[in-house]
Amino acid sequence: MAQVSAGPTGRGSPGRPYVLLSCATSIDGYIDDATEQRLMLSNDEDLARIDAIRAGCDAILVGAGTVRRDDPRLVVRAERLRRERVARGLPPSPAKVTLTARGDLDPRARFFTVGDAAKLVYCASPAVEKATESLDGLATVVDAGDPVDHDRLLADLAARGIGRLMVEGGGTVHAQFLTAGLADELHLVVAPFFVGDRRAPRFVADGRFPWHPGRRARVAEVRQIGDVVLTRYALSPRCVDW
Ligand SMILES: NC(=O)c1ccc[n+]([C@@H]2O[C@H](COP(=O)([O-])OP(=O)(O)OC[C@H]3O[C@@H](n4cnc5c(N)ncnc54)[C@H](OP(=O)(O)O)[C@@H]3O)[C@@H](O)[C@H]2O)c1
Repeated sequence: MAQVSAGPTGRGSPGRPYVLLSCATSIDGYIDDATEQRLMLSNDEDLARIDAIRAGCDAILVGAGTVRRDDPRLVVRAERLRRERVARGLPPSPAKVTLTARGDLDPRARFFTVGDAAKLVYCASPAVEKATESLDGLATVVDAGDPVDHDRLLADLAARGIGRLMVEGGGTVHAQFLTAGLADELHLVVAPFFVGDRRAPRFVADGRFPWHPGRRARVAEVRQIGDVVLTRYALSPRCVDW
């Protein structure tokens, strides 16, 4: 089992990876509905864009809630993009990263079973033993403190050579990166329909966000992609469009 090594920490530290948040919502700000089925918010063209962004990153992070609820593969799908990565001396898909406090992750989840990329589980200290036992050989379980410290997590990723991290949700994880001021860029896609069900999860929960009426975020780009609209927000000076 790998352990977190002491390393550079700090918000906005150049020692942390560039953090790109990606999310799709309904017009009324929901990221899913309240049914058992997975809600499709993006369209095919947008999914191809997301695939290309994934291919340009060193790691993709989702929360354990998304692993359990969506069972995502989190691999680069397009063969051309996979080949281009290999030609650059990279694995076909970025590393997969998740974080958990309870350590309750199913080893049969596609996060663990699909693809050859490295899998990293940042786990709160009390659950490390449980996660290590259940994920034996499938992932590297990293003791990330109690509670999990995002600065520490990012410093550890940087130490493992992760320079560019894509955070694909869910809402809990997105809110944490945003409120902690640890996001450099946000890609927000709005699908052309309403969910209209307060039992469904929203993009983010309540919190003290660094962007508010007195400090508005900077829009780097707005693009229509078929029937959805992408807004790219530059959230730190590290974003090239700042
Ligand atoms: N539309 C989109 O773009 C999009 C993308 C992704 C997901 N989603 C949706 O988002 C929903 C899931 O969101 P969610 O907020 O429930 O889950 P989430 O953000 O994916 O994961 C939350 C879980 O991650 C772990 N976690 C988060 N922060 C942690 C911390 N600081 N320390 C330790 N563990 C931490 C905890 O896992 P444990 O419970 O294991 O302790 C927590 O329960 C699903 O409905 C999914 O479909 C939508």
